[in-house]
Amino acid sequence: MKELRLLIADDSDKTREIIEKILEYEEGMKVVGHATNGKEAILMSEKFEPDIILMDINMPVLTGIEATEQIMYKLPDTVIIMMSVQKEIGYLKKTMEAGAKNYILKPFNTEEIIDTIRNTYKKEKDKKVQIERLKEKKDARNPKTITVFSTKGGVGKSTTAINTAIAIKKETNKKVIIVDMDVYFGDICTMSDVDPSITIIELIEEIAILSSENIHDYIIETELGVDILAAPKKPEYADYVTTEHIKKISHILKENYDYIVFDMDNKFSDLNLTIMDQTDLILYITTMEITSIKNAKLGIDVMKSLNYADEKIKLVVNKSDENYGINLGDIKKVLEREIDFCIKSNDKIVVSSINKGIPIMTEKKRNNMMEGFEKIAKGVR
Ligand SMILES: Nc1ncnc2c1ncn2[C@@H]1O[C@H](COP(=O)(O)OP(=O)(O)OP(=O)(O)O)[C@@H](O)[C@H]1O
Ligand SMILES: [Mg+2]
Repeated sequence: MKELRLLIADDSDKTREIIEKILEYEEGMKVVGHATNGKEAILMSEKFEPDIILMDINMPVLTGIEATEQIMYKLPDTVIIMMSVQKEIGYLKKTMEAGAKNYILKPFNTEEIIDTIRNTYKKEKDKKVQIERLKEKKDARNPKTITVFSTKGGVGKSTTAINTAIAIKKETNKKVIIVDMDVYFGDICTMSDVDPSITIIELIEEIAILSSENIHDYIIETELGVDILAAPKKPEYADYVTTEHIKKISHILKENYDYIVFDMDNKFSDLNLTIMDQTDLILYITTMEITSIKNAKLGIDVMKSLNYADEKIKLVVNKSDENYGINLGDIKKVLEREIDFCIKSNDKIVVSSINKGIPIMTEKKRNNMMEGFEKIAKGVR
């Protein structure tokens, strides 16, 4: 282990001598400087850049609290341990606010001071390593958010969301989560035969303390390979979810996942717009029905008026091989744009997959719908 370099700041010659004597025989510790007041403590810390400063609270010229504040500003990695007598205990909160990491009460014995130095330094070092790791993880990640939307109900949004998420997982083997934002009537857990033991509502109850470290407590890990943030269990809970919640949740999910797939309901609600504003891609679903195409036209126009970039919106035609008098060429003409992806129709496989809670993309036997989801997965990655 690296030798710890210490600075002792105390106006009492006797205290400094005692500490120095204690540390003299301690392996891996070396006193590199002394200070008899706060100002000197600052000068000495700049000169020696010690790992640890043992700092008295009450010192002339500048107090230990003021010195700590200034040292933390210039040398934030320095670990400062305050030394105080019982009657100064009221000041300790202030010293912590100034940036001290621990304190020790005088008089102390050899064991106490050595343990405090070692434990405090180790704790701070571990913390730094952990922060570095999280930062590296975050930097290595380039999260992508995909929102599955349509202004029409029942066009296959949830079917597309869950199967696209699984297809992305298969394609990339990266971390994928599906967020069920159909807050009134979320279907994702039912479609994947998952018991929503924990939902976005429980997460919101703890939103103030939500962080990258605890977000997984609110997420369901599934055998599908993708995680789920479940919708509220009952429609009456839906209104608890606000745009502010969603902003914070998205931010933290981006630190933890490579792909985040949002399954939505069919409204241009504030909640949905908050998600779509910050999403990388919108998979806009339509079927071959005239009402669905008309709604897609209106919906995409709204998105254009919101200045969403053309590349952000991908048009997905579901049940694209159904032939009821409208073909893909008609859709292109009406919507004045290209079709990005097509998903074929298969009543039997979709209904049985939903009823069994086994998404199509996890079926062993190939079927005509898989290709569509695989193409989406390749196209959005
Ligand atoms: N490619 C397909 N082939 C056949 N049937 C399909 C297909 N896609 C979806 N369906 C049918 O449409 C129904 C609705 O699908 P899904 O729940 O995915 O739509 P949704 O847009 O999420 O609906 P909601 O607006 O209620 O959330 C399904 O129950 C299924 O029966
Ligand atoms: Mg749905």
